[in-house]
Amino acid sequence: MEKQKKSFKPNKKFIKNANVNSEDIYKTGLDKESFWGNLANDLFWHKKWDKVCEENPPYSKWFLNGKINVSYNCLDRHIKNGKQDKIAFYWEGENNQEKILTYNDLYLEVNRFANALKSKGIKKGDRVVINMPMIPEAIVSMLACTRIGAVHIVIFGGTGPIGIKERVIHAEVKLVITSDGGYRRGKIIPYKEIIDQALDQVDCVKDVIVVKHSKNKIPFNEKRDSWYHDLIIDAKEFCPVEEMDSEDMLFILYTSGSTGKPKGIFHSTAGYLLGVYQTTKWVFDIKDEDIYWSTADIGWITGHSYVVYGLLSNGATQVIYEGALDHPNYSRTWEIIEKYKVNIFYTAPTAIRTFMKWGNEWIDKYDLSSLRLLGSIGEPINPDVWLWYYEIIGKSNCPIVDTWFQTETGALVISPLPGISALKPGSICKALPGFEAKVLDEKGNETNKGFLALTKSFPSMLRGVYKEEKRYLETYWSKWDGKYYYTGDGAYVDEEGNINITGRLDDVIKVSGHRIGSAEVENALVEHPHAVEASVISVHDEIKGEKIIAFVILKESASDSNKDIEKELKKLVEISIGRYARPTKIFLVDELPKTKSGKIMRRILRNLLIKQPIGDVSTLENKSYIPILKNIIEEIQL
Ligand code: WT7
Repeated sequence: MEKQKKSFKPNKKFIKNANVNSEDIYKTGLDKESFWGNLANDLFWHKKWDKVCEENPPYSKWFLNGKINVSYNCLDRHIKNGKQDKIAFYWEGENNQEKILTYNDLYLEVNRFANALKSKGIKKGDRVVINMPMIPEAIVSMLACTRIGAVHIVIFGGTGPIGIKERVIHAEVKLVITSDGGYRRGKIIPYKEIIDQALDQVDCVKDVIVVKHSKNKIPFNEKRDSWYHDLIIDAKEFCPVEEMDSEDMLFILYTSGSTGKPKGIFHSTAGYLLGVYQTTKWVFDIKDEDIYWSTADIGWITGHSYVVYGLLSNGATQVIYEGALDHPNYSRTWEIIEKYKVNIFYTAPTAIRTFMKWGNEWIDKYDLSSLRLLGSIGEPINPDVWLWYYEIIGKSNCPIVDTWFQTETGALVISPLPGISALKPGSICKALPGFEAKVLDEKGNETNKGFLALTKSFPSMLRGVYKEEKRYLETYWSKWDGKYYYTGDGAYVDEEGNINITGRLDDVIKVSGHRIGSAEVENALVEHPHAVEASVISVHDEIKGEKIIAFVILKESASDSNKDIEKELKKLVEISIGRYARPTKIFLVDELPKTKSGKIMRRILRNLLIKQPIGDVSTLENKSYIPILKNIIEEIQL
């Protein structure tokens, strides 16, 4: 306990060389207009803005009437500054394949592919889906979209065909970019087949572009499909950038909420770019000579912001790795760090807990002395895990930035600054300069323990939920009458005034850092012809943070083959959402605890599972079923 209270200061050398090492930056950040206005001068603008910010929640705008392009800022700007030969990516495949791309290589490929997209009729504002493994072409595709002003929708590689289909239809997607396969633990993931299933009977998609990567034999629809490499060869080598308005939509990224359907979070062009550019500089302390590696997939916001746009806009060098961290063995991560002399390493608590479980013998024989900064993202990190990361990976010599953000905030909002903050295991410190976060009670008054709110507009904030304005207003802005943004997280302020996250307060579950809506899983389960009703909850898991447990009521006719049904139910979740959302256990039950008005009392299910008293049952309708439920649960050890 004593150990956990201790705080950690970075060493003198780190502080001296840090991109930010003076607390004054927090003060300058208070005047947000001049602060963000000055920072925005780092970027290249085709036309400067008339006004920095129009604060008008929930519809605040930034850099009004400015003209800017993201691809230009990630590529052309660096090439014009003489960085054409600097390495943008070291790509490492699962089986030790390597590819190195300089900024010039990336620039040429993005230009060609942008022209290829144009040749398929894609223009500003059109929606393009990218569903690919972690290969350079995935990043080329994102940048090519931004070059011509097309709105990309990256869908995580593990998403099931129904989930993809729903997004494609909802966003009226015109073109899909995928690959003939991707590697995962020696197996090939059939991206193209999944896309074919997803697009079955979908009219809006006119073209599918396929990257040849795995040498997998794939079905090819001559009318609709084309090979990426054929298009690249045929394409012109220069594509002028589309001069985007600051507030033009940059991308949509679907994420889970508390209802059954994922929501399409969309971001603006200038504000998003500035947010990720600046926070990368501050929090990851990125320098010209650094080699950075984040294990995040581009299918999530971390991949968008802290693999693609934050790093490339800074002209940084990074490693991207396609495969699994345990393939071919548990040393893979450390082998990559040693091989590329990685300086900055960014991963999720669930990965760190897994490394801990595998044991230090997989780490000890590797030289990790290149590391100078470590990061954590996606879920709360337990203090003992933080300490292990600090001592065993960082050799007590690297600050850890426990970073907080959301798909909605685009850029990091709350995080230590490694050259300034005293680090405390488990605490995310305080809002970054130019941002403001508070812990509020129901009424919107500041308190020590309550709801985490973002109380001032900042450039990279989401601009809405695609085609669902009402949902945007209700989810984020209704709690405090449109005044403050509600994050959905619970938090408390500690003695030092730092923020600590306790977890989600809505029906969002975080499994291995992946965001999953319990209602989404319930919807998937009741698609089964024998299922009548489902309730999904989560309980603590040592490694994954949380695990999903489902309760399903079946029709009476289904009683003989229950074992298969459990398998079928899990499969349904996999097809509808993705493998990552599969329940760990599904209990088949006859009733669910309900209130007199028919609301399922999830608290009772959760308490029974964790063997806690079920608490107040005065509103419970079917009390007599509780002992039966208890027996069913007790029979199975989770
Ligand atoms: C939610 C947002 C994996 C992608 C990044 C997250 C949780 C995020 C932290 C942290 C505790 C965290 C919150 C947040 N979260 N960072 N450092 N400590 N919790 O993006 O998938 O949109 O999820 O992740 O609950 O609301 P996301």
